[in-house]
Amino acid sequence: MYRTVTCGELRLSDAGKTVTLAGWVQRIRKMGGMTFIDLRDRYGLTQLAFNQQDNADIFAEANRLGREYVLQVTGKVSERYAKNPQMPTGDIEIMVDKLNVLNPALTPPFTIEDESDGGDDLRMKYRYLDLRRQCVRRNLELRHKFAFEVRRYLDEHGFLEVETPVLVNSTPEGARDFVVPSRMNKGQFYALPQSPQTLKQLLMVSGFDRYFQIVKCFRDEDLRADRQPEFTQIDCEMSFVEQEDILQMFEGMTRHLFKTLKGLDIPQLPRMTWADAMKYYGSDKPDLRFEMRFVELMDVLKGHVFSVFDNAAYIGGICCKGAAHYTRKQIDALTEFVKRPQIGAKGLVYARVEQDGTVKSSVDKFYSQEVLQEMKKAMQAEAGDLILILSGDDAMRTRKQLCELRLEMGSQLGLRDKNKFACLWVIDFPMYEWSDEEQRLMAMHHPFTSPKPEDIPLLDTDPAAVRANAYDMVINGVEVGGGSIRIHDAKLQEKVFEILGFTPEQAQTKFGFLMNAFKYGAPPHGGLAYGLDRFVSLFAGLDSIRDCIAFPKNNQGRDVMLGAPGIIDQVQFDELGIQIVRNEE
Ligand code: AMO
Repeated sequence: MYRTVTCGELRLSDAGKTVTLAGWVQRIRKMGGMTFIDLRDRYGLTQLAFNQQDNADIFAEANRLGREYVLQVTGKVSERYAKNPQMPTGDIEIMVDKLNVLNPALTPPFTIEDESDGGDDLRMKYRYLDLRRQCVRRNLELRHKFAFEVRRYLDEHGFLEVETPVLVNSTPEGARDFVVPSRMNKGQFYALPQSPQTLKQLLMVSGFDRYFQIVKCFRDEDLRADRQPEFTQIDCEMSFVEQEDILQMFEGMTRHLFKTLKGLDIPQLPRMTWADAMKYYGSDKPDLRFEMRFVELMDVLKGHVFSVFDNAAYIGGICCKGAAHYTRKQIDALTEFVKRPQIGAKGLVYARVEQDGTVKSSVDKFYSQEVLQEMKKAMQAEAGDLILILSGDDAMRTRKQLCELRLEMGSQLGLRDKNKFACLWVIDFPMYEWSDEEQRLMAMHHPFTSPKPEDIPLLDTDPAAVRANAYDMVINGVEVGGGSIRIHDAKLQEKVFEILGFTPEQAQTKFGFLMNAFKYGAPPHGGLAYGLDRFVSLFAGLDSIRDCIAFPKNNQGRDVMLGAPGIIDQVQFDELGIQIVRNEE
């Protein structure tokens, strides 16, 4: 037996026992005739004590050890003279009388402690060392428990976990595909799934009724803090359901996860239409931890010879409660913030509500106190509040800018507490959105999403106005999941493809397998997929999903530890029948 106990479990009640532990040297403190070592394993830290007087040989050997050496020690559990209340094992130490060095170690390139001295790149290069840090490991432990509770809930509700293939054809989630060349079919390629969307729909045609899969998905898109090129979905599908059934089932799962993993009872999830989310928050994933709803001010502020507003297609404001103390310098910084190219506003108008109720604004010369009072009323502002206003000639763009400002103010005013959770469903998404790049309507969710039955006639007259039976679950401004009721009627599916610009031949080539399957009796069905990485990050309070992924990619999509992606041998190219044309430079 390598060990009789782990490094996290010994307490004062164990004093007197002889135990064997194994682990890594976290820290060594040499204090004259005594040397102390913190021994670490997955379960915690235990202090080892070496006394020169009691055992000079082992004491000398302990003094030759280095950080991260792998040890096996045997000794007696003793009450500590100086206890450490910060450590669960802080009441005891092991008086070591047998020391076995299982493996020496090079000095690690950064300290393996919660507050590490290693930068991001270095820690990623040595990710296996980074993963020794408790704070990182804890996130993976949470991820494990999360997936476990998901499986428990879905199993209890009759879902079957079915694996779908990874070598497939292009799947239509709107990102670029990662492709894999086929040796046996030269010149042809598999695509890695952006999601198992079409396969889970086929499982419904097969009669599986309730499917789920915790599954890797692959999308070749630009990376952000909440995006990885390979990520994990909790992918689900149900037959013989309406939207309401799905919302209930997965609200139940969310409640189960909050209860079992965070000990929280969350209230029933509010539902907001996509149109309202855009109108009041300028985003399809509003952060509802705080109010600061948009108020449209077109009626109040237009027609007072202030040309910026007079020419605007949208004027909207947010009321920042109790922020009238913002100095000129702070407001200038906010103005710079909204003018950054990523946001693109032209300027920022502000108004303070003074203690006596009067309003002082940056555009006072254009507005009488009477109009400003009217604005105060519209904004439901009170003494001590700060009103921030943006305007622009494109209503949607201006709302998105105001959304950025709202989130920034929420952060600055401490309203985005990571321990507070505001969940909601955003429903009634539009079926289509216009793509400037492609100069055509694109599916906002994906092409298998069903229109709302009452909007089907609009498919012929005004497709851009058609709403879908599609929904997202949003928590703290993060889209954690999304899905839809699917089209199960081959004719309607053909029409939707047509609006998306596919010729019948193209639709047949790409999705013929699905449309044909639908001809053999497809049940009404629908589902959704959660982003597991995003959901876990929210629970763990992380800023980036990378921190809950064991071996993530960096912002360039590289695994710096493995050196992937890498060059492959000419032999491999030859076998695949791929000719590489290298530019002679
Ligand atoms: P969607 O594309 O909305 O829907 O994806 C579902 C959820 O997956 C997460 N997600 C990501 N997480 C990390 N990195 C990424 N690059 C990434 N892309 C998406 C998000 C998102 O809400 N097949 C449909 C689901 C369905 O209709 O059933 C789908 O994939 O949290």
